Order: sequence, then structure tokens, then C-alpha cells
Amino acid sequence: MKGSEAVVTENLTKVYGGKIRAVENVSITVHPGEAFGFLGPNGAGKTTTVSMLTAGLRPTQGSAIVNGLDVEKFPDEVKRQIGVIFQESTADGDLSGLENIEVAAGCFGIARSEGRARAKALIDQMQLTEAANRLAKTYSGGMRRRLELAVGLVNEPRILFLDEPTLGLDPQGRAGFWGFVQKLRKETGVTVFVTTHYLDEADGMCDRIAIIDHGTIVASGTPGELKDKLGGDVVTLKTASSSMDLTAVLRPLPGVSSVQRQDGTYRVKCASGERLVPLAVDACSKAGALINGVIVKRPSLDEVFLEFTGREFREEEGPTATDQAVQGLRIRGALRGRR
Ligand SMILES: Nc1ncnc2c1ncn2[C@@H]1O[C@H](COP(=O)(O)OP(=O)(O)OP(=O)(O)O)[C@@H](O)[C@H]1O
Ligand SMILES: [Mg+2]
Repeated sequence: MKGSEAVVTENLTKVYGGKIRAVENVSITVHPGEAFGFLGPNGAGKTTTVSMLTAGLRPTQGSAIVNGLDVEKFPDEVKRQIGVIFQESTADGDLSGLENIEVAAGCFGIARSEGRARAKALIDQMQLTEAANRLAKTYSGGMRRRLELAVGLVNEPRILFLDEPTLGLDPQGRAGFWGFVQKLRKETGVTVFVTTHYLDEADGMCDRIAIIDHGTIVASGTPGELKDKLGGDVVTLKTASSSMDLTAVLRPLPGVSSVQRQDGTYRVKCASGERLVPLAVDACSKAGALINGVIVKRPSLDEVFLEFTGREFREEEGPTATDQAVQGLRIRGALRGRR
């Protein structure tokens, strides 16, 4: 039932300026308590979707129900029941960690003494006790993200929206951040909706995933289901010659389900990579082609992305669309209107 789900969207659509179709007919359901990953490359429409779900942006078409509430009809109520970590850092560098959380508590109308108590507890929970009274501008990237997580939790939300929460953190910082989120899920059962570029992260962290590309959902399911759709291993073969086409040599080999060629490189889907490699090398050499590189991959979400979009999932250089759009956001501004 719609009302008991954490998030239900139907044909959610956002068109900027009448022509940029940033999000197109997105229909998803997020169950209470689950971690739902929203994956896509730069400009795919992740932040736009999160902004609509968190009542920061009005949909052009379609609907979004969050915690049983229509975001267009009850934006303030939705904001009171959720926590958000924005893609761009929102911590106010000129306030201490504690003060950042206290200000956020004030924005929710939480009484001063209660706000102070929650701030203290959250600072401890995020292991920022030592740095509690230091200005946030002296925090490392990972500490800042943990502080922003604390800020997002100050109203004890039922759903947490995290927009690229670990972008720019080193692997240790990423793992640390996710450790806190996992612990929180276990302790409070909070629903987590997270956008990320990191496929491996979504694979390990999320119960279910939707992949968005050019504003449209191209695949969704559990990480296991998505990988199963690939049906086996992927063997990439590189040959010295890009003029000879080996598709007809590789396709009939046992266990092969498809062959994709790009110049001298072949992406072969097969039941077992280990069994295929010697057969493929032998068959190619008989056909007069030298194999000078072999990669065997168990299916990962990278392959899922490639499969459904035809492109590699690669981060682009430079600031992203959203980075530019939301530059300069600070905690007070970000939380304005939440009272
Ligand atoms: N305020 C805006 N006005 C016009 N176009 C916008 C606006 N915000 C985003 N867009 C465009 O909408 C599309 C989706 O952007 P969005 O920020 O939602 O993508 P994203 O998946 O979050 O990307 P990133 O990984 O870069 O954060 C992009 O083409 C972007 O340029
Ligand atoms: Mg974004």
C-alpha cells in the first residue's frame, strides 16, 4: 500500500526551463527500513529527484509520496519527517560542530535545552566529541560529512536522504561514513535513500538499487538480481589487430551468450570465464589473431551499468552540474523554511 511505503513516485518528471528533461517518468517504491541506492553518472537526474522527494523542488509532472505524504501538498510536514544530506557541504564553517547542530535543531522548532542535548548526543554518536567545540572549517572532509549526518538526524527522521554523501572522501573516509549509517540503520530502522557514483558502494550497502541515466530509470532490483540479469561472467579480450572481426569465431564457443566488439576489443558474456579463456585464445590463434590481453570479471554493477546504458560508468572531471547549481549553500540557507 502506498501510504505504508517510505517513498512512492509515479511518473515523477522535472523539466527545467521548459526544455531540459532532467527527470522523466521515474516510478519507484522504497520500502520502510531499506537502504535504496539511486545510481547514475553526472547529470543523470539524481539531485533533481532528491530535491523533489525532499520538497525542495516542485515536480513538473507525476507524484511523490514520502512517508505517506504527498510532497506537493504537504511540503513542510515532509521536511519535518526527513533528514537530508545535500551533495554540497552545508556545514557552517564559522560555527562549531555543536553549534551547527543546535542551529539546525532551532530550525525545527526544537527547544534550546533539548537541542543542546541532542547536539551533544549526536556529536558523541558521530565520534566528533574531541572536535565538538572547534569551528567546522577546521574539520577534515570525513568529519564534515559526519557532522552533516548529525545535522540531518537532529529531528529524528524516519527517512534519510543522502545525496552523494561520500563524494570526495578517501576510501577510509567512505568506509567510516558507511559504518555510521549502517549502525544507525540497525539501531533506529531508519530508511535510507542514497545517491552515489560509486557502484561498489551501492553494491555493498544497498538492499535495492535503481540506475538512472539521462533522467530515466534503466534498471532496478537487488544488486544480486541486477547481476543475475547479466547471466554469468564477462571476458574482455584484446587483440593486436583491430581490422579482423573475431565475433564469428567467439560466438559459437561453449557457454558464450553474446559478443560485443569495439575495434580490437571483445566483450564476451559467458557462463564461466575461466573455462572460456583457453578455448577463446586457442580459437583466435587458429583464426590467425593474437590475443594480447585478457580480463575475466564476475559481474559487478559496473557491468550492469554498461549492459543497460552501453557506456562505461566513469566519473567526469571538473565540477558537476549540481556542484555549480548549489554552490554557496550553507546550513541556515539549506534549512530555511523548515520551521
Ligand atoms: N537548476 C537547473 N536549471 C537547469 N538545468 C538544471 C538545473 N539543475 C540541474 N539541471 C540539469 O538537469 C540535469 C540533471 O541534473 P542533476 O543535478 O539532477 O544530475 P545529477 O545526477 O545529480 O548529477 P551530478 O552527478 O553531477 O550531481 C542536468 O542536465 C543538469 O544540467
Ligand atoms: Mg547531483
